[in-house]
Amino acid sequence: MRTLNATVALILIVGSTLLNAATYKGQKIYMDSCKTCHGGGQELAGSKKQRAWKKLMDNKGEKLVDIHLSSKKASASWEYFKDRSFAKKAKHLEDFLVEYASDSGNVPACN
Ligand code: HEC
Repeated sequence: MRTLNATVALILIVGSTLLNAATYKGQKIYMDSCKTCHGGGQELAGSKKQRAWKKLMDNKGEKLVDIHLSSKKASASWEYFKDRSFAKKAKHLEDFLVEYASDSGNVPACN
């Protein structure tokens, strides 16, 4: 019984950490993949409302991918957006962008 309680507690702790980790992961992906072209992530995130980000990031970031693939100026990112691994990253990115959207109520931390 005691191990069961400990297991449940552990699952709860890990679960809530993972939720925060998702935003962090998204931020890291942004830093690695988008910052060179778009600058500060929280500024970009704050340029749209939560609904707009959700729409852009719908269906594994389909619209975001389209915007880049149809822009010659973004050609340096084509390989990145065409890569299948982007689908996996899209969800984390969405968490991050929505978390810092202009109507999220979150004040960006200095970074
Ligand atoms: C190689 C440079 C480059 C990279 C890397 C890049 N982008 Fe872009 N992005 C662009 C360009 C150029 C445009 C403008 C496309 C146009 O309108 O012609 C754009 C457009 C956008 C837009 C639409 C802007 C608007 O106002 O609607 C969003 C959102 C965006 N990018 C987010 C991202 C995210 C998130 C990443 C990382 C996963 C990323 N970009 C990576 C170059 C880049």
